[in-house]
Amino acid sequence: MKKPPQTDWLLYCRPGFEQDCAQEALRQAKQQKPIIGTEQPAIIADSGYVVVALNEQKLSWRELIFTRQLIRLHHSIATLPERDRLTPILDAISTLPGTFGALWLEAPDTNEGKLLPTFTRRFQPLLETALREQGRLQDDIQNKHNKLPRLHIFFPDKNSAMIGSSDPHNSAEAIMGIVRQSMPPEAPSRSTMKLAEAIEVFMDRSEQTRLLRQGMQAVDLGAAPGGWTWQLVKRGIRVTAVDNGPMKGALINHPLVQHLKQDGFKYAPRKAVDWLVCDMVEKPSKVAKLIEEWFAAGWCKHAIFNLKLPMKQRVIALDSALGGIRKRLDEEGINYRMIAKHLYHDREEVTVFLTKTKG
Ligand SMILES: C[S@@+](CC[C@H](N)C(=O)[O-])C[C@H]1O[C@@H](n2cnc3c(N)ncnc32)[C@H](O)[C@@H]1O
Repeated sequence: MKKPPQTDWLLYCRPGFEQDCAQEALRQAKQQKPIIGTEQPAIIADSGYVVVALNEQKLSWRELIFTRQLIRLHHSIATLPERDRLTPILDAISTLPGTFGALWLEAPDTNEGKLLPTFTRRFQPLLETALREQGRLQDDIQNKHNKLPRLHIFFPDKNSAMIGSSDPHNSAEAIMGIVRQSMPPEAPSRSTMKLAEAIEVFMDRSEQTRLLRQGMQAVDLGAAPGGWTWQLVKRGIRVTAVDNGPMKGALINHPLVQHLKQDGFKYAPRKAVDWLVCDMVEKPSKVAKLIEEWFAAGWCKHAIFNLKLPMKQRVIALDSALGGIRKRLDEEGINYRMIAKHLYHDREEVTVFLTKTKG
């Protein structure tokens, strides 16, 4: 029997989550077609990446929670010669068809990987010049509307390289799949970066302008010391901050903030609000239930919330929590869009965006 074609995919993830990343990708592929003739991925623990071999199945980056970046892998160079690392990389690129819209040199998000950018930085101008001379790399202005594939050179370490491409419509728009945030000095907690990242990852510019407007109303459950509330009030949104703990800094007597020392699982708003955000550390099933109740009661239109991950069977626990929300909203006849991602600022949790949509 003829062997089915095989495509290798390179997925980036948070170190320590390789198993979850691979499990989720394989499951998504198997939902389309059984995987034939491929072996289980060889997972390198704490490496920050996974390679999975599929047949013709397509992976959808948006629907993969643990995958930071989705790359079609074309070549792996196991040993780069120390004296000339560039030539084998250029040779491998020369076998690929077409032109590229960007060249991204990347390394895993590990301690070792953090040392690699100084090393990869030297290659960037050399490779870029060579590829432009060959007409293989368009500049940003030419590429603005074309959305050509990006070329990725991934260095798992100094001595090896993986060469692949990503589809700008089915991948993260940020190098290494990480949307970096800087800590605003006035914000009361580092958690503020998590909501800032969620807003960037889940909503495009026009959605951000449309959904986060001055004069809107929000409820923040588990708000203290106030990093998430701060993200909302800085956009002119009025926030009811529910937490038995104290708010900090400028948020203590902020004109847009009402702090209620109450249990977030029992709180009900007097009037419907635009936004619910929730960062209470609780069982994912309990938080999911609460979110369902808010949407079913019509108390909010949009939500961003965290689901804490268990130590084991994380994919299954998430399936159950997110599946419960889907089932309930379907039963209630509510149209919605939901996306969950293990963000850069998430550790043992994932962040979810849920928004009501029209018809
Ligand atoms: C991770 S912290 C939230 C950090 C906050 N999002 C920020 O950016 O500063 C979790 C908060 O949830 C609160 N919390 C936990 N269970 C709660 C409950 N049942 N009701 C209200 N707050 C709760 C805790 O007091 C704690 O302040």
